[in-house]
Amino acid sequence: MSIIEPNPLLSAPSGALRVPKYPAKLTGGKDCILFSLIIPTYNERDNITNVVQVLTKLLDSSIYGDYELIVVDDDSPDGTWEVAASLMTSYPQLRVMRRVGERGLSQAVIRGWQVAKGRILGVIDGDLQHPPHVMLQLLRAVEEGADLAVGSRHVDGGGVSSWSVVRRFLSRGAQVLGLIILPGVLGRVSDPMSGYFMVQRDSIAEITLHPVGYKILLEIIGRGDIQEIVEVGYVFNERVEGESKVTWKQYIDYLRHLIRLRLTTGHLGRMNKRLNFPIGRFLRFGVVGFSGLGVDLTVFYILRQIFELGLTRSTILSAETAIINNFLWNDIWTFHDISSRQTGKGARLKRFLKFNVICLAGVILQALIVNLLYNVLKVNEYLAKLIAIAVVVLWNFWVNLKLSWRVTDVKK
Ligand code: GDD
Ligand code: MN
Repeated sequence: MSIIEPNPLLSAPSGALRVPKYPAKLTGGKDCILFSLIIPTYNERDNITNVVQVLTKLLDSSIYGDYELIVVDDDSPDGTWEVAASLMTSYPQLRVMRRVGERGLSQAVIRGWQVAKGRILGVIDGDLQHPPHVMLQLLRAVEEGADLAVGSRHVDGGGVSSWSVVRRFLSRGAQVLGLIILPGVLGRVSDPMSGYFMVQRDSIAEITLHPVGYKILLEIIGRGDIQEIVEVGYVFNERVEGESKVTWKQYIDYLRHLIRLRLTTGHLGRMNKRLNFPIGRFLRFGVVGFSGLGVDLTVFYILRQIFELGLTRSTILSAETAIINNFLWNDIWTFHDISSRQTGKGARLKRFLKFNVICLAGVILQALIVNLLYNVLKVNEYLAKLIAIAVVVLWNFWVNLKLSWRVTDVKK
């Protein structure tokens, strides 16, 4: 038995998060419509009907027939996508995407834009915390030529209704931190954390985006081709239904996002591109190296003091423990993207053995360099040791990158 589905759900695009310059062919001979608004949702069952109704009313009154609403739901356990889908018969401009497998607010928004037909792309929270009427002001600003229009809590007419002192403090603290790390992006708007904005398709088309976490506006300003920005004040409403999804994880994501943008955009980004050196990976490798030093010294101390083992044995055992420690962290963190594609015990063991051999070779290399510098070139022995360590860290990183965590995607 087959059921005829009049309004099939949109399936989520896969691959790079890149918005096309032109939307896929439209029916009716038009190139595109004016406006596509994404409503990202996760467990917003009790809000979605209201949201769709209010937004439709507003948009019908100003740009009837020239817009679409796209709900992008990350397979909410409460079945938001189902409720949204049931609205499609009454709201023909509504489209619904159910994403299965991938999760995350920023990604959801971009996935929606990828299938959007509008010349102007926007986003609004699905919980009515963003006052809907502000949308028309934002839209007008972009129609009149701004590249980006942002709803802001920190300009005239803006605010938060009743946030606790702690939440205000955290929000402002995050902003100051961002200003320090990434002044070129955070300094351009008064409310860089806003999730309520519209942008010209042309300003972000064909650019691969790499957002982390919640704050997609940072990504748009950081990577987009954004000249003119307009801000419109709004008061962040209290939630009436459902609950916020913000946890401590969002703060970590935010920090990661800042650092990623710092390293890949602007001066530093251009320099890194020219050098073609995986700087982020190298920094992680360095952090792991430091943890290894701690492990090495601790185990050495325990073996000597508590087990009263000989010097050579203690040295070798503690060094090997550090190597195992470093391998595990590098495997699950530094090179996670690569190791996750080569799963299985055998593959991991192989990586570990290579890592081990390369690190041991590094120790020998270090001894050779110290000798060369000290005995032949007459360099001070501590300076010699320091230079040798620097060279060996680079050696360890580079050779492991090329051998242990090499990408071998030749499977059929
Ligand atoms: N698809 C999808 N996937 N939607 C999500 C996800 C997700 O993983 N996480 C949250 N959402 C949806 C929620 O359902 C809601 O519609 C919207 O994204 C915002 O989430 P909230 O959990 O309500 O966040 P908030 O109230 O703390 O708002 C903060 O973040 C917003 C988004 O960046 C504030 O900073 C807002 O100004 C900002 O707009
Ligand atoms: Mn909210």
